[in-house]
This record gives sequence, C-alpha cells and structure tokens, in this order.
Amino acid sequence: MEAATPFDAALLELTRAWKVRDDLRQQGNTDHAAIRAAWLELDRARLWIRKVTDPLMWRYEHAVDPRTWLPPSAADRVAAISADAHRLEVDGIARRLDALVQRDRDIHDHEAVNLDPAANTMNPAAEAMMARGLGSRPSLGYPGAKYETGLEAIEEIEVLATNLVREVFGATFAEVRVPSGAIANLYAFMATASPGDAVIVPPASIGGHVTHHEAGAAGLYGLEVHHAPIDPDTNSVDTAGLAALARRVRPSLITIGGSLNLAHHPVAEIRRIADEVDAKVLFDAAHLCGLIAGHAWPNPLQQGAHLMTMSTYKSLAGPPGGLVVTNDPALAERIEAIAHPGLTANFDAGKTAAMAITMLDWLVHGRQYAADMVTAAADLARGLEAQDLPVHRPAGQLTQVSHQLALDARALGGGTAAAQHLRRANLLTSAIGLPIPSIEGDANGLRMGTPEIVRWGISGAAIPQLAAFIGQAWRDDDPARLAPKVARFRSEFRRIRYIRDR
Ligand SMILES: Cc1ncc(COP(=O)(O)O)c(C=O)c1O
Repeated sequence: MEAATPFDAALLELTRAWKVRDDLRQQGNTDHAAIRAAWLELDRARLWIRKVTDPLMWRYEHAVDPRTWLPPSAADRVAAISADAHRLEVDGIARRLDALVQRDRDIHDHEAVNLDPAANTMNPAAEAMMARGLGSRPSLGYPGAKYETGLEAIEEIEVLATNLVREVFGATFAEVRVPSGAIANLYAFMATASPGDAVIVPPASIGGHVTHHEAGAAGLYGLEVHHAPIDPDTNSVDTAGLAALARRVRPSLITIGGSLNLAHHPVAEIRRIADEVDAKVLFDAAHLCGLIAGHAWPNPLQQGAHLMTMSTYKSLAGPPGGLVVTNDPALAERIEAIAHPGLTANFDAGKTAAMAITMLDWLVHGRQYAADMVTAAADLARGLEAQDLPVHRPAGQLTQVSHQLALDARALGGGTAAAQHLRRANLLTSAIGLPIPSIEGDANGLRMGTPEIVRWGISGAAIPQLAAFIGQAWRDDDPARLAPKVARFRSEFRRIRYIRDR
C-alpha cells in the first residue's frame, strides 16, 4: 500500500511495527533479541509519527545531548542552548542565527579588546570575497587541467593568489588549497614522513602545538612523536639536547615554531642537525606568519627550513585557512599531490580570493603592520609590569622581537581560569604552557598578542591605559565591574588599519 502523505507513511510504519510486536507476543516467542528489536522498531515508529504531527518534537527530544563524554561545563552549555532552541520555529531559528551573528560582531568589533594572538579582523574587502558565490564551485586540479569546466575566472584567481603568497613569503612554491594550519601541518607530515617514522617536535611547555603531538595530526597520522629538550632561556629548543636526541631516534622530520614565540628560534642550527641525520625541517609559522610577511622576523625558509606552514587568520589577518610554502621542488610536488587528489576536493575559491586581497595588504602595508605589532607587544609587556603583573621573562628579559607575550597565570588558578576571569572584563586572552612549574588541571601561563589591537589602532598612548585595565581586572574579584569601561575604551577604535584604500 502506497502512503499518500507523510502522516500516512508514518502511520503505516507504526501499524507494521505494532503488528510485528503483537505477533511475537501471540506466538509466545521468547527470543529476547527479536523482542528487543521489535520494541525498538515500535519506538522508532512512534517517534516518527510524533515528528510528523509536531515539528517541534524532534528538537525537543534532542535537547538532551547524548554525548556522555563531554566535560561538565560543555554539557551544561550545550543543554542550555538546546533547551532554549527547541521552542523556536524554523523561521525563529533563522532570526536567532541572524541575531547571533550580529552579537558576535558587537562583542568583537565594539565591546571586547581582543588580545588573543590567534585572532584578528579581516580586511572587509577580503571578507566580502568569501560571500560572492565562489566557494560552491568545486575546482579540482591544476589551472588549465581542471576536472570541471567553466572555471576560467577561478583558475585566474588561484594563480594570482598563489603568486602573491610566493612573493610575500619569498618562496618558490606555495600551496593555497589548505583548509587550516592544522591541515597544513598534516600535509607537511605526509610529505616528509611515513607512519611509524620518528619526528622531533617542540613540547607544549614552550608553546609546541597539539598538531605536532600524539593527540594531533602527527599522532593521528601514526608518527612516533619525540619531544625536543627545551631551553627555558629562549622559550625554544635546546640545540645540544636536540642533536643528541636526533642521533638517537633518527627522525624523518624536526619541527620548530609554536603557539608562543618569544625569541628567534635557532633554525639554521636545527637544519644542521637535521642534515646530519637526513631529516627535513618544518617551521610552523601559524602565529609568526604576519611578522615574517612584514619582515619583522627572520624568514625561516632563508634560514634553512625545508617547509613552512601557517594559519592564515591569526597575525596574517586573512581568511580562516592554511598555507604551505617551500623552496624545494620535490617537496612542493608532493604537497600539491596531497592537496589534490589527496585531501581536498573543493578548496573554496572564495577563501583563495580573500587570501589574494590579504596578500596585497601585506605588500603595501606589511612592514608597518609587523613593526607596530612588535612595538605594541613590548609596550604592553612594560605596561603590565608597571601594574605588577607577573610577565614571563625568559632569561630575565622582556621580549623585544615578538608580537606575543605571556604571564605566569598560576596566581589566578591557571591560564584558562585567568582567561575566563579577564573575559568578564571584556578582555580576551588565551591559555598557554610555560617552562615554569605546572599547575593541576590547567595550563600555567596566559598568552597575549597584538595582531588585532594594533589593527584597530590600539597602540602607542593607548597601551598604558589598556595595561591598567588588565591590571585592575587581574586583581578584582568581580572583574565584570570593569566591563563597561573597557567597552567604552574599545568603542573609540573604529577604523581597521593596514588595508589598502579602494
Ligand atoms: C603553532 C600552531 N600550529 C598550528 C595551529 C593550527 O592552526 P589552525 O587553527 O589554522 O588549524 C595553531 C593554532 O591553532 C598553532 O598555534
């Protein structure tokens, strides 16, 4: 029998399920598996009919999150959001989404000072490129040899973006079809090592990123991860210890660069060690790419790194994505094969166009932007010390070369606790590991950076005021009291810097 409506179909299913269960009963069947299956079928059919008769029922039933593995704070937050959402009709959810997007703009562009070095604000012209329909045009293969047709314009965008990335980073080869910095690292691991190979990576205590570790891309790809010995005086690796470890484990790859970079990394020395054991060197510039693009940090490719990966939305102020650059043709060829046909089909040409616009900004304003990030970070570190805050000082020095700085967050219960504390005052930061004694259940450090603040013009004379807000919030048991003042301060800075006039 054909069902005329969804309700009829659900009813039919319910009747069938009911009959199966009744037949089992009448037969006196004691097969538990069969009885359980019949009950499950009946439940499924009941739920279906409720969904057909009441469109809110599905959302109501699913307000309880089934993921038993969530940490309690996440389970509570998801449950609270779902409990509110289940009351909304379809159009109500669409309106809510619109309001949430606006709310996010208000938080980041008007209320909060974003000191998280992993965040930035895009050039609106670049951002607009992502909403012009390019992203839904799959574009597989090399320009001129694409699988799809009709991609003449997209091919040109891809070539322009790739060439601009090469120019900005002084690299012979650039791969733009990379979804994120994490995936850029996976590309690099796949191009240089096979599952089971050893890699030596920076540990979390000096800002080494999880993608290089067991729980991240390296471990998931099956690499044998060894943590490099560290030099707390530079917040980087200890090269003597690294050389000894490399001779022992014979890695295919040595990685350097992390989520906190306070001093220049010894790339040339690492390359020398790598050559001795026939390994490649990967520099992870997820955070440093803006400084490298603006010539405020030595270019790792010129210092000997075989590959450089990066995230594109942090100090680079581009769209969310990743890049891989290299001067090595054999590695470049492998990376391109990993990008396609390996790990991407559609790579989102809209992001590629946005990347091209971002690169133009770097060509025109890059040196100034990078220099201003470094100056602001040094000013902020001094300002925070003037507030008696425990700024991390490797070898007793405040950093003079980075756009990042860190604080010992143990007094506030750890980096995550400190970030949550400061958030209540509209100050956005993030946790980080430091080579100081650890703390139970949290990172020991708090990280700040200047990519976003200088982009909004918070620099120079504004830094002591910002440092004073951070000092007050740090000491206040109720930092939310400060939130309106910080929002007023933030709202004075309305113009995005270092973008080309159109
Ligand atoms: C050093 C480092 N590498 C890689 C990543 C991953 O980048 P993405 O967020 O673009 O995946 C990050 C941060 O997120 C990072 O700090």
